[in-house]
Amino acid sequence: MVKGGKKLYGEVSVSGAKNAVVAIIPAAILVDGICIVENVPDIQDVRVLIAILENMGASVAFTDESTLKIDCRAISKQNEPDALMRKMRASYYLLGALLGRFRAAKVTMPGGCSFGVRPIDQHIKGFEALGASVWQDSDVIVASAEELKGTNVYLDIVSVGATINIMLAAVLAEGVTVIENAAKEPHIVDLANFLNAMGANVKGAGTDVIKVTGVKKLSGGAYSIIPDQIEAGTFMVAAAATGGNVLVKNIIPKHMESISAKLIEVGAKITEHDDSIRVEGDGELSGVNIKTQPYPGYPTDMQPQIVALLSTAKGISLVTEGVWDNRFQYVGELLRMGADIRVDGKSAFINGVDHLTGAPVRATDLRGGAGMVIAGLIAEGTTEITDIQYIDRGYEKIEEKFKALGADIYRVNS
Ligand code: EPU
Repeated sequence: MVKGGKKLYGEVSVSGAKNAVVAIIPAAILVDGICIVENVPDIQDVRVLIAILENMGASVAFTDESTLKIDCRAISKQNEPDALMRKMRASYYLLGALLGRFRAAKVTMPGGCSFGVRPIDQHIKGFEALGASVWQDSDVIVASAEELKGTNVYLDIVSVGATINIMLAAVLAEGVTVIENAAKEPHIVDLANFLNAMGANVKGAGTDVIKVTGVKKLSGGAYSIIPDQIEAGTFMVAAAATGGNVLVKNIIPKHMESISAKLIEVGAKITEHDDSIRVEGDGELSGVNIKTQPYPGYPTDMQPQIVALLSTAKGISLVTEGVWDNRFQYVGELLRMGADIRVDGKSAFINGVDHLTGAPVRATDLRGGAGMVIAGLIAEGTTEITDIQYIDRGYEKIEEKFKALGADIYRVNS
């Protein structure tokens, strides 16, 4: 429940990156030793992954509120817990990790947010190039290999998931794997740094060519997850949208450049420090054009949040989705709040209105839900958001963090 109209003030500290941790926990399957993973966010996707690993025989425990100790030495590739895997998109990383470790993997088709068709042909192309046979029906994917041999894989589409999965399958393969047209997102660099800290040999992550030289084994160590670019961006947009003044802390400003640039264009004031950014939004905000793109472009995972802001910014905005086929489901919810938005295919034309009005709305997916929170914060009256389990998949204690900034927001336990 959000009562709108409060400007956000104060400081907020950003948690570890969801899209990094959902790759790094499965990556621990490849490690013949103990992994200490720090800065782990307490989100639903993490709990699901821990349960999946435990069901496979891993020993996983929090040693403090954000440090996870993972020991996968005793796991078996049997007993895959199907229902759990279906709960999250990133369970497909188990394919690359299990294939790398056991030369065999069986994974239930992933769930997660639905933005239309979510093919994994590029993941499969990579596994096959490494020497695996992959069999797939509507429900299950099975991969197996006599041996995995390094090779060149050119991705036809810049895919975060395929880049990560091929890295996972390649770290214990024989010889050198080169991934061309790789995705460059911060969480890809984070996974590479984790793997290297465990003894892998991965070079070039963060560029579009990644070179993985296979090693015999990974032997454990400690690693701290990067801050969440999208959580940080969500607070930055919320600060600007409410006309507040917020210091967003524990971030890597370099990762925020595309978001900062758009907020400046909208009319917010951005001040960058070493590991924090201040956002002030006290002037009038005006419409802008945005196209979402793979990193370093403006992130698709920050699309609903900025559309919520633009719904009351002066003038016309055009937001084009450049990654997913169908990521505007949440717009229907903004319309209920009085927004003036027309979606045509992959574009949304936004005519800024004077104000939004609180209404009962639904979180249609994780980031759509974050967009609803921002819309609720700027609306007149009360917004009731249902299906917040989507938001909990990827944001740690979202309502507590907003409350600490002065928002009138609370969770209703029904
Ligand atoms: N694609 C293919 N074939 C493939 C793989 C992808 O055609 O084999 C297409 C997709 O359909 C999409 C585009 O390529 O149109 C990009 O997909 P990508 O593989 O990069 O997405 P993903 O790995 O499934 C991750 C994040 C998403 C984020 C996208 C894009 C995780 C767990 N998920 O998904 O995050 O939107 O990258 O940056 O890392 C979120 O956090 O809310 C979220 C949805």
